[in-house]
Amino acid sequence: MTDLSLPFTPLIRNLPAVVPFVPPEALERRTGRSLKVRVGANESAFGISPLAREAMRRAVEQLSWYNDPEAYELRRPLAHLHGVAPEEICVAAGIDELLGLVVRLVVESGAPVVTSRGTYPTFNFHVAGFGGRLCTAPYQGDHTDLEALAAEVRSTGAHLVYLANPDNPLGTWHPAAQVRAFVDQLPGDCLVILDEAYVEFAPPEVHFPVQTQDPRLIRMRTFSKAHGMAGARIGYALAHRQVVAAFDKIRNHFAVNRVAQAGALASLGDPAFLQRVVQQVEEGRRAYQALAAELGLRAVPSGTNFVALEIGPRARKLLEVLLENDVFVRMPGVAPLDRCIRVTVGTPQERATFAQILRRVLPQVRP
Ligand SMILES: Cc1ncc(COP(=O)(O)O)c(C=O)c1O
Repeated sequence: MTDLSLPFTPLIRNLPAVVPFVPPEALERRTGRSLKVRVGANESAFGISPLAREAMRRAVEQLSWYNDPEAYELRRPLAHLHGVAPEEICVAAGIDELLGLVVRLVVESGAPVVTSRGTYPTFNFHVAGFGGRLCTAPYQGDHTDLEALAAEVRSTGAHLVYLANPDNPLGTWHPAAQVRAFVDQLPGDCLVILDEAYVEFAPPEVHFPVQTQDPRLIRMRTFSKAHGMAGARIGYALAHRQVVAAFDKIRNHFAVNRVAQAGALASLGDPAFLQRVVQQVEEGRRAYQALAAELGLRAVPSGTNFVALEIGPRARKLLEVLLENDVFVRMPGVAPLDRCIRVTVGTPQERATFAQILRRVLPQVRP
């Protein structure tokens, strides 16, 4: 390409072009066919609450107005739900946007930032985009290694560490007591992002009350998973009010559209719907466990809406063969996690189709 000498910063000029996730739509364009089973992006297979659907329909009628940039109506019930003040909540266009905001708050060019090697890559994408230097701690077996993460923070002097609990891509979790002990042992000048995108699906031992007194701990939640609104783009951070005030200095105040705000608010008012989704996901996880047992595969125990199936060195080949059969799944990007494929809990119909195709193609990739 001709060098147009555009006045980009050195950071942008040297940044490799990276797409955090190739979307299933792009895969369809590539193959020229529609996917039969879309179980790769940990989207909900169980739709949105009927109350949310109705509220969103009504909100469409007001789309000519700007949204409320303070998301006041939504922050009030969220504050009530979590036992915090509305000033301790920042609503944004999903956790993905919040991750970028935190990085922008604390990461200067070349500054070390700590995460687990192979965990949710969008965080890494933001670190690169703001010129940070990613320092990673390896997993221990199927789990993120809290000791190794803390050691990495101490040895690099990082001011930011990322932890997803439950984790993506393997779906494993640490009990709350261990997460708290992890935060407690970190230096006082290190912020922790606790990404709880999947917390609704996690066992009770993972849950702990939100306490915003500690300014180091930023917890992130989303309406993309259990609430089924990934395409609406809405999530929030629970944090000390000084952190939320700092977000307000830099965030895109109109990023969260009116329809998403209305849907999230209505969905919060439908806990029975959420409970049904969680039950259906548990059923789906059990079905994948049974399928794995039938096929002689190991399924990693999951506290999320997906299950990682351990395939071994031919995992990537299996992913390709599944796509040739119009099944969309994903897999971890880096070793040693890339021994697995990651399958989202689909509807019973999707699960049956997936199982049928997996049974058929698995022998093709077995040594
Ligand atoms: C660990 C984790 N965090 C965040 C997200 C994205 O959340 P959101 O849709 O709220 O941006 C995902 C989505 O897959 C995820 O797995």
